[in-house]
Amino acid sequence: MAAPIATHILPETANISTWGRLFVGGLDVAAIAEEYGTPLFVYDEYHLRKRCQEAVSSFGTGVAYASKAFLCAAMAKLAYEEGMHIDVASSGEAYVALRAGVPADLLVFHGNNKSTAELTYALEHNFGRIVVDSFDELERLRRLANYGHARPKVLLRLTPGVEAHAHEYVSTGQEDSKFGFSIKSGAALEAIVQCRAETSGVQLMGIHAHVGSSVTAIESFEKVVAVMASFFVPLGLPELVIGGGLAAPYMNDDVNVSIRDWAAAVKSAATRAGISSSVVLSAEPGRAIVANAGLTLYRVGTIKDLPDVRTYLSVDGGMSDNIRPALYGAQYEAFLPRAADAERTKPFRIVGKHCESGDIIVRDAWLPEDTVVGDVLCTPATGAYGYAMASNYNKLPRPAVVFVNDGRTQLVVRRESYEDLLRNDIF
Ligand code: LLP
Repeated sequence: MAAPIATHILPETANISTWGRLFVGGLDVAAIAEEYGTPLFVYDEYHLRKRCQEAVSSFGTGVAYASKAFLCAAMAKLAYEEGMHIDVASSGEAYVALRAGVPADLLVFHGNNKSTAELTYALEHNFGRIVVDSFDELERLRRLANYGHARPKVLLRLTPGVEAHAHEYVSTGQEDSKFGFSIKSGAALEAIVQCRAETSGVQLMGIHAHVGSSVTAIESFEKVVAVMASFFVPLGLPELVIGGGLAAPYMNDDVNVSIRDWAAAVKSAATRAGISSSVVLSAEPGRAIVANAGLTLYRVGTIKDLPDVRTYLSVDGGMSDNIRPALYGAQYEAFLPRAADAERTKPFRIVGKHCESGDIIVRDAWLPEDTVVGDVLCTPATGAYGYAMASNYNKLPRPAVVFVNDGRTQLVVRRESYEDLLRNDIF
C-alpha cells in the first residue's frame, strides 16, 4: 500500500483537481496523452526555467547546464535564454546547442576521449572552455596550436580521490577512474606544468572535478572542495568548477536538496578552505535542472495476474525510453493521472514491451485497485537521462517530447516514425 504521489517529486506547476486529475502547466495530463499519443515525455517549462534561474542566481554567470541529462534544440535554447552556459560531452551535443542558437563561447567541452576532429571543431568555433582530461589530449591541443589554431581557454579535470557514495557506474571522483588527472599520483601537477609551458598551446584558466551523479550527501561536495582547495589555492588560478551531481528526489520519501542550498554549502566550504572570493566558483548541474520537470506517460496495454506470484502490468514503452531501472536499479513511483490523489493499494510490477525480462520500469509499484487496460500511467521525475538515453531497441520509435506552459503545449521533439527507423539503411 502506498500513499498518493507526493507533490515534491512532481513538476512545480503540478496541481491536482478536486476530481483527482493531475494538471501540469495548466493542462490535464491525461488529455495531453490523448492528444500526442504515448509513450510521451512531458516537461513543465516553468519548472525548467525556475531551476535554471536558481542555478544562475546561486552560482553566478558561468554556471553550465549539463546537457547530457536532456538535450534537444528547445532545451538548449531555454537554458541559454535563462543565462546558463552549456556543458557538452561530445561534438554532437555541441552541434545541437550551436544549431539551437547558443553562442560557441558559452560551451564547455567535456570528454575523456576527444578526437582531434572534435578538438579542431571546438577550436574553429571558439568554444568557451575545453576541459582537458588526459596527456594525450594536451598533446593534441599542442599540435593543433602548432598548426596555427588559437590557444583555447582550458580547465584541467582532476580526480580528487573522493568517493561520492553514488552508483559505481556514475561515480567518477575515485582514484580508479577513466576520468581526469589524479592529484594523488602527481599526474595533476605534471599536467599543470605542461599547461604552463610556453609551447603548451593552451591557456590554463582553472581546475575542474566531478565526483559522481545522484549525490545526496552535501558533505561529499564539501569534501571535494576541501581536497581541491589544497591543490588549487597555491596555483593562483581564477576558476574552480565542482561539476554536477546533485541528486533529485525520485520517490515519495526522497529528500530534496535545492540548488540554492547546494551552492551555499559549496561556497562556504570554499571560504573555509581559504579559496579567495575573487575566484570564479562554478558548477554544472544536469539532473537537478531537469529531472523533476519531466514526466513519462504510458498507456496500459496488458494486465497479467499470475496467482500467488504477482501481477504484471505492461505499458507501451520500456527500457528504450527509460534504461535507468535496468542499468542502475533506479526506482520510480507510478500513478494514474486520472486519480492522482488516490491511495495506491494494489501491487504491480510495471514492465515494458521489450523482449527481455529485465525490461522493468517499476519493480514494486502500487497503483489504485481499479487500474485497467487503457489507463494512462505516469512515472514522474523522468526528465533526466530518460529521453537522453533512449534507444530504438526492438525498433521502437522514440517518443515525442512536449513542453507545457500556461495552458499551452509545444511539441519540441516529434515522435519518430517507422520511416525514421530506416533513415540510415542502405537498400
Ligand atoms: N559534469 C560532468 C563532467 C559530468 O560527467 C556530469 C554527468 C555532470 C556534470 C552532470 O551530472 P548531474 O548533475 O546530471 O548528476 N546516466 C546516469 C548519469 C550519468 C552522469 C554522467 N555525468 C544516470 O542516469 O543517472
